[in-house]
Amino acid sequence: MRKTARYRKLISSFAILALLAGCGEKGDLDATVSPGAQTSPDASVTSGEDKTDKDVSPGEKDPGQDEATPSIPAAQGLTYSGKDLSQIAPLPQKEELVANDFLLYFVNCASAASSSLDGFGLFQSVADQPFGTDKGSGRDWGYLSAEYMQAQGDVESADRKAAKWGIAEDAVYGEDTGYRYYFELPAGNYEVTCGFYDPFSPRNIDISAEGKEVISGQKILKFKETEFSFETEVTDGELDLFVYNAKRGQDAMQNPELSYIIVRAVPEYDGEMLAMMLEASGVSEEELKEYRTVTVAKYKESVAAAKKVADSDSASEGEIREAYENLKKAFEGLEKKMVYNAFTPGKTWQDTDGNKIQAHGGQVQKLTVLDKQTGEPVEKWWWVGEDKTKGYRGGICAYSSFDLYNWEFEGVVMRNVTSREELDTDEYFKELYAGYTKEQLDNVYRCINDSTSVIERPKMIHNEKTGQYLLWFHADGPTETSDANYAAASAGLAVSETPYGPFRFVDRYRLNTCPEDQEDMYPQSKGMARDMNLFVDDDGTAYIIYSSEENLTIYISKLNDTYDYLCTDPEKAVYGKDFIRLYPGAQREAPAIIKREGKYYLMTSGATGWAPNQARYWVADEIFGEWVDMGDPCIGDDKRTTFDSQSTCIFLADDGTVIYMGDRWNSDNLGDSRYIWLPVLFDDEGKMSISWQDSWTLKNP
Ligand code: DGJ
Repeated sequence: MRKTARYRKLISSFAILALLAGCGEKGDLDATVSPGAQTSPDASVTSGEDKTDKDVSPGEKDPGQDEATPSIPAAQGLTYSGKDLSQIAPLPQKEELVANDFLLYFVNCASAASSSLDGFGLFQSVADQPFGTDKGSGRDWGYLSAEYMQAQGDVESADRKAAKWGIAEDAVYGEDTGYRYYFELPAGNYEVTCGFYDPFSPRNIDISAEGKEVISGQKILKFKETEFSFETEVTDGELDLFVYNAKRGQDAMQNPELSYIIVRAVPEYDGEMLAMMLEASGVSEEELKEYRTVTVAKYKESVAAAKKVADSDSASEGEIREAYENLKKAFEGLEKKMVYNAFTPGKTWQDTDGNKIQAHGGQVQKLTVLDKQTGEPVEKWWWVGEDKTKGYRGGICAYSSFDLYNWEFEGVVMRNVTSREELDTDEYFKELYAGYTKEQLDNVYRCINDSTSVIERPKMIHNEKTGQYLLWFHADGPTETSDANYAAASAGLAVSETPYGPFRFVDRYRLNTCPEDQEDMYPQSKGMARDMNLFVDDDGTAYIIYSSEENLTIYISKLNDTYDYLCTDPEKAVYGKDFIRLYPGAQREAPAIIKREGKYYLMTSGATGWAPNQARYWVADEIFGEWVDMGDPCIGDDKRTTFDSQSTCIFLADDGTVIYMGDRWNSDNLGDSRYIWLPVLFDDEGKMSISWQDSWTLKNP
């Protein structure tokens, strides 16, 4: 919702009445203006009334205009409209100004769109117009038509970036070339913003207001909305603006442009205004439930601060203004929570609090959990993954859902540690690691601290025998002999009695090694374990699947029956019974496994850091049997980048849809990495395929 509309919606009815009353007043004003009275100080300038009556649409040449390029009135001290000052109606009442966010004009330059009414200022009824009397407000305003002015872009769009003034290609460009606007305004101070959205090349902009240069030689960049704001005093009943580029010279790539102009009244901030703002921005607790938690917290904080200032007898104007503006910002910043009823791969995905889901490199499965409120067992989808809120290093988060679309945050279920002391002093850690020896605590710190350790691709399994939930993950970081981020190359384990956590870190391990009779692709470092996944077979046997031998070879290793270690120590493990190696030298990462109709499917990525690459999958009849290379399952993935994603999990939804879960990593901002969930299809021969969908739903919502 636009902010002005929000205020309008929430403001009490007195403001709406005032608004209506204000319109009437302006109509009267219009009637008192006689055409004869509109003598322009410059005879060559057509009077405002003439232009308005002829109803010129933006960009068109004004028929009332002389054929020759009009001469431009000198800006300083002249009243273009010719209204005498006694004819200029004062500003509307404070209530109305507050309700409309002090917005008097919002000119969407060169736009003919009428659908932006919500965004209009109090003194306008059209998006833009050649100078003349506004039929709705009775105020005189608009641009001075000039032959060189050309409406560019989509003039039908209400988007302020869609259309703009530019300079016609064959125009004769001179020193006076630019865009002149005049706005009827009673004497006072105004905040003016000129907005630019330049789809061409960067260029400079100059702005003068009331004949004074206020912005000189400021750069506007390509494809970047840029605004320049300034305050200016109007004494002569009219604000005149000139937007140009003094340095344009003969370079048409430096033509000045102009996308929009905002004119706001600058009020005097007093207790009454703050009280009005408090009323206008009031939102009930019930309504607040619909908004994102972070934005609600900010809003509540600002309301409390504003109330304190409003209740104080000694608050200065500065304090009132600060409280007013903070409250306004927080109110405008209230963002509705998303309710999803479809998967939209690659789009931001928020949890039910409205925060971005942080469960990267994750896994989804169905669990029966005890409902937090009722204590009753309920079936829920459970998503665990990496918390990248703070960037590269974070703990492990969990989310739960009934429908796979909307996810409730269940917390950081395995927290990483900020300092070694924290393990001895912080209540959460003290309780969690009670009974650990000093050496064990040192190891916890070494393996899951937030400054050097790497925690990636967590996967959770539940062990029926012990009742424990186990999180296995790629635990990495420097070692005694290497500072590298990925030197440890181990499988980490954390356990908890519930899927909600807290998960207690147990240890990290190197795993099975290449048998002597096979070619080890990386003999210098044994038992490495990086990108990983877990799989529990129908008979309850669990396996850990991971990249080893410096990511050159995938291993599948059997876990013991409590799922907390390998079934056999690496020194004694038997190849083919306790583990196997897959595709030595193929360099595959990101394993995701599913069993379907008796066959095992293993999807993997190549190894290119955070950059996506081509997927490949293998199929086997037995987990330790022969795995057959089936190639890339993606259809129409022209770039061969798995639709710009990297596999992390494949699971079966209730409606029978097999879902591919991938990560679209954003290495510049890992916390904003996106999720790519796509349906996986299987043909009669069991071959899998994945096609792109912008948006899709399950069959039985
Ligand atoms: C690819 C892996 O699959 C990710 O989990 C992560 O380790 C990145 N490499 C780091 O570059």
